[in-house]
Amino acid sequence: MNVLIVGSGGREHAIAEAVSRSSRVDKIYCAPGNAGIAEIAECVDIKVMEFDRIAKFAKNHDIGLTIVGPDDPLVGGLVDVLEEAGIRAFGPRKNAAILEGSKAFSKDLMKKYNIPTAQYEVFTDAASALAYLDNAKLPIVLKADGLALGKGVLICNTLDEARNGVKEIMLDKKFGTAGNKMVIEEFMTGREVSVLTFCDGKTVKIMSSAQDHKRAGDGDTGLNTGGMGTFSPSPFFTKKIEDYCKKEIFQPTVDAMKAEGREFKGVIFFGLMLTEEGPKVLEYNARFGDPEAQVVLPRMKNDIIDVMEACVDGKLGKIKLEFEDNAAVCVILASDGYPVSYTKGHVVTGLEEFDKHPGYYCFHAGTRKSSTRGVVTNGGRVLGVTAVGENLRQARANAYEAVQWVKFENKYYRKDIGKAIDEA
Ligand code: AMP
Ligand code: GLY
Repeated sequence: MNVLIVGSGGREHAIAEAVSRSSRVDKIYCAPGNAGIAEIAECVDIKVMEFDRIAKFAKNHDIGLTIVGPDDPLVGGLVDVLEEAGIRAFGPRKNAAILEGSKAFSKDLMKKYNIPTAQYEVFTDAASALAYLDNAKLPIVLKADGLALGKGVLICNTLDEARNGVKEIMLDKKFGTAGNKMVIEEFMTGREVSVLTFCDGKTVKIMSSAQDHKRAGDGDTGLNTGGMGTFSPSPFFTKKIEDYCKKEIFQPTVDAMKAEGREFKGVIFFGLMLTEEGPKVLEYNARFGDPEAQVVLPRMKNDIIDVMEACVDGKLGKIKLEFEDNAAVCVILASDGYPVSYTKGHVVTGLEEFDKHPGYYCFHAGTRKSSTRGVVTNGGRVLGVTAVGENLRQARANAYEAVQWVKFENKYYRKDIGKAIDEA
């Protein structure tokens, strides 16, 4: 069959790589894709929010399955548009993607169905939010309700910071309409784990766990970013914790969505905090994580098309998800200055090394193919260098070795991705 992948980041490159391993796929298209994806798929110049063009392209190119990568088109209802046009699509419909699209919705769902999460209140006006802060315990966490490019969460240590945050979100509309509502919640401490799962509306199957490093600098310092690196599996996500989460968090979430008439088919990404009181949900995402996909998918043994079709058809119960008994580490190569300001357009060299080394991957995120100079940098997060190894330590050593193969001016990366495993 022909497959269309929607999106243009490292996550979509990792999805494309997994699809390219499927024995069932003839041709892969990607809208709009990037310079790395172009090596394994035909990239088409259609943006992720151009729903009608995507549907028309899928119809005209005999696409058997369209896989939607990013949150925006999912929350905006691309899967509904495709289904109405008779095109099979992997990903939640709009009424289910709200699990990520509205933090107020997801918090209310967890409260209603007793799913462990931080205590919270929802506000629709700044005055009430500000009044609430007067008696709140610090630090306190402010969240814009809607999608905000991963930047809509503010952790405030002082009352002034919190008041300022409420103003930014609700009055200055720093995150646009995402700030029409907001959640104020209790600050939790503990280790974070990302758990990606496949869902078919009723059954949930867990992929191997991962951990993200969100801050720009070593030792988790500096500004929040879209992710500076990941490792998988997380040694902190033990069998015991997994069993608890299955029973108290994963299955209850899928059941809750079904009970609400919002059957979730696709990937639910559970952002968890392992607190002293047990695992609690930090956030839900309605898609693969980026850069979690870059360490989880290379370790998946199943044919990804079989699994995705089972999700669409409500037959996930028949699938046995299998992962290699190894580990993977992904180090993001960024442009120095990210996430604030940085230069672009620098020539990238060394990419051919990855073709010579099985078990090493270079997933493109912010690159562009120049007609005269080859691959050049085109964003803050440029590439995700992933390596597998027999255990996390080995995978980490391999990934940092491969990081040296790639060169471009103003290359910046964290040196401590996966270092947390030393504490496990
Ligand atoms: P989110 O987009 O909801 O995952 O939030 C981004 C990051 O903010 C999370 O990965 C956590 O590091 C942090 N965070 C979110 N909510 C809380 C909370 N209630 N307590 C502590 N940290 C939080
Ligand atoms: N890595 C976090 C996310 O994809 O939202």
